[in-house]
Amino acid sequence: MTSQDSHNLFPSGFAHYPLYFSPEEQAGLIDAVKQGIAVAPFFQPTMPRTGAPLSVVMSNFGSLGWVTDKEKGYRYEPCHPKTGQPWPKLPEALGVLWDKVTDFPARPEATLINWYRADKASKMGMHVDNDENDLRAPVVSVSLGDPAMFRIGGPKRGGPTQGIKLYSGDVVVLAGDARLCHHGVSKVYYGESALVPKGGRINLTMRRVNGIGAT
Ligand code: SIN
Ligand code: FE2
Repeated sequence: MTSQDSHNLFPSGFAHYPLYFSPEEQAGLIDAVKQGIAVAPFFQPTMPRTGAPLSVVMSNFGSLGWVTDKEKGYRYEPCHPKTGQPWPKLPEALGVLWDKVTDFPARPEATLINWYRADKASKMGMHVDNDENDLRAPVVSVSLGDPAMFRIGGPKRGGPTQGIKLYSGDVVVLAGDARLCHHGVSKVYYGESALVPKGGRINLTMRRVNGIGAT
């Protein structure tokens, strides 16, 4: 392999499963999201310190949910910031997915639901997922609805990135070196899928927060 080739490689531990979920299974996941949102409505996350809104809205499944606001910043919380109620339980299909695509011996406590909306031109800036206590566990994400350009770089901010277009039903795993690589969503191809009832893209990101043995 030449060094030229190595520039075109995704980091080790990055895995992409195109169309992992069938259209019927995708519809089932959207139903599960709808049921989740009925008790834990989408909330508007804001950036630490500046309080600037993110362009996505969020909710979560699981015993912990990822939240962010001006006052307390990025963190995991057992309850919804607006309702004060626990997050809805992880849909079994997602627990089964985790077991199939990772060899991590405990299921994720947190599954973040991000909704990318056409009217907000939602996308996601480059970042590393590092609010978890156990950074060895992989991150597993499911794409539903409109396609998106997912970008992944290296461990340092600002380096070269690779792009991959993710379609509804695709699954991405960030394990190994990829787990701590910068990544983001540079573009969503709005209006291409009719799966999400009010349009746009939903991404489900499953993360193990605490080490094995913790609940
Ligand atoms: C994220 O990493 O926060 C979201 C990734 C995605 O939407 O595909
Ligand atoms: Fe992320």
